Amino acid sequence: MCAPDHFRVEYAINPWMDPDQPVDGDLARRQWDGLRQTLVGLGHTVHTLAPLAGLPDMVFAANGAFTVDGVAYGARFRFPQRADEAGAHRRFYEADGWRFVAPEQTNEGEGDFAYLPAAHGGLVLAGHGFRTEPAAHAEAQEVLGRPVVSLRLVDPRFYHLDVALAAIDDANIAYFPGAFSSGAREVLGRLFPHAVVASEADALAFGLNLVSDGRNVVLPAEATGLAGTLAAAGYVPVPVELGELRKGGGSVKCCVAELRP
Ligand code: ARG
Repeated sequence: MCAPDHFRVEYAINPWMDPDQPVDGDLARRQWDGLRQTLVGLGHTVHTLAPLAGLPDMVFAANGAFTVDGVAYGARFRFPQRADEAGAHRRFYEADGWRFVAPEQTNEGEGDFAYLPAAHGGLVLAGHGFRTEPAAHAEAQEVLGRPVVSLRLVDPRFYHLDVALAAIDDANIAYFPGAFSSGAREVLGRLFPHAVVASEADALAFGLNLVSDGRNVVLPAEATGLAGTLAAAGYVPVPVELGELRKGGGSVKCCVAELRP
C-alpha cells in the first residue's frame, strides 16, 4: 500500500476522475488508514511504500507489479502521469528479495492481472482493451510460466480488469459480465461455472475492486448487493469506506498489491 499523502484528482486518465471535484485529503488519508487497519486486523502483513511528490496516483499501489511465486513482473504504465511509479515499486521488490523482471510491454500490474493458484495448476487472468497491451499477456506468461487467459474489456467504465473481476478464493472469481467482450464472457463461463456474478449496480459501486483471503472479502461499503451475494455463498464481507479514493477512480483492490512469495 502507499499512503495518499499527495493524493488529489488533477487530471483525467479514466472516466471516474473529475478534476473539478474537490478531494478531502485528510478524509482520504483516514479512509486509506482504515483499509490498512482492516487488513492488519484480518492478520495480513502490510508493507507501505513512501509516497512520492508529483505522483498522486501512487496510492493505487496495485498497478506497480504482479507477483506469482516470488517473481515480480513489473509494470509499464500507459500514461506519462504515472510512468515514474514503476521505479518505486521496482526498488521495493528488489530490496525485498524478489526476482524482479522489468517488462518491455505496457501493463498496469494487478490492475489487469489476477491469479488463481488452485485453478488449472495456477491460472492468470489478464485484461486488455484500455491500459494493458495483449503483448504483455504473452510476456507475463513467459516470465511467470503460468497460462495467461486474455480477456477483452469493452466498457470504458471498467478500464482495468480489477474493477470488473476479482479472485474471491484460490479457484473462483466474482465478475460483471457486461464489462467483457462476448468471447471473453464465454471463456469465463466455461472456466468458472460457479462464479459469483455481480450486478451492474454493484460493479459501478466498485464492488469487484475487492481483496479476498478466501474467506473474508474486503470491499467498498456501497456494494451492498454483492456483499449479500457473497455472504449467501459462504464468504464474510468486510465493508470499508473509501469514498475519497474513489474520486481518483479506484477502491479497495486498487490500493493493494498482493504479494505472492
Ligand atoms: N487514477 C488511476 C488511474 O486511472 C486509478 C487506478 C486504479 N487502480 C486500479 N488498480 N484499478 O490509473
